[in-house]
Amino acid sequence: MHTAYMFATVRTLTLLSMVLFSGAAALEQNTAQSNSAPEYTSDARLRFPEKYREWVYLTSGFDMSYDPAMQMGDQHKFDNVFANPGAYGSFVKTGTWPDKTMLVLEERGAKGKGSINQKGNYQGGIVGLAVHVRDEARFAGKWAFFGFDGSKTAKMIPLSADCYSCHAAHAAVDTTFVQFYPTLLPIATTKGTLAAPYLKETAGK
Ligand code: HEC
Repeated sequence: MHTAYMFATVRTLTLLSMVLFSGAAALEQNTAQSNSAPEYTSDARLRFPEKYREWVYLTSGFDMSYDPAMQMGDQHKFDNVFANPGAYGSFVKTGTWPDKTMLVLEERGAKGKGSINQKGNYQGGIVGLAVHVRDEARFAGKWAFFGFDGSKTAKMIPLSADCYSCHAAHAAVDTTFVQFYPTLLPIATTKGTLAAPYLKETAGK
């Protein structure tokens, strides 16, 4: 009786530790994948980080418009920004982005009428995807932009594109628009990592 009880206990503990162990292994694997550093094809195209939806959420912009040439007409749009978790953790500690940072900008059409919704907007399908990557060894300017239109890989947007000039001239931290990422702006402010052009632009406002 006693022995049978002990045997059952040992067996339960063994099973339990197996479950815990495999759980930890799965979690580790999952973190490794979702933490992924940028990956490129042999012809220097960036692979789209498929798991970005498991990354850290930074913001949603609604109908943000900073390009006078862009006519949106009646089409409303949300954008959502995500950071790879390792880079986010580093930002929280230092107020700036480490090497191998990836930021994904996902654009979604706004929808008004559907299901029980009477008023206001919710997010529909994806209408645009762009990635901003910091890779110091690879890019002369440390950062590069990539635009994806349904493709799994994309080539770098050339440095002559206005992406680079607007981000360099107006973004709050190291060419990224931290002034619009509410959990990060206070950190950058405290750590003193706000960019000079941004400080100048906002001085006295
Ligand atoms: C006139 C200014 C301007 C131009 C030009 C511009 N952007 Fe941005 N970009 C912004 C702003 C503002 C945000 C913040 C969006 C938010 O808060 O939702 C942003 C955010 C981003 C982000 C999220 C990560 C980050 O760096 O903050 C990516 C990725 C991005 N833009 C890609 C691009 C690409 C690719 C182009 C060129 C095809 C481009 N942008 C052109 C102003 C600009």
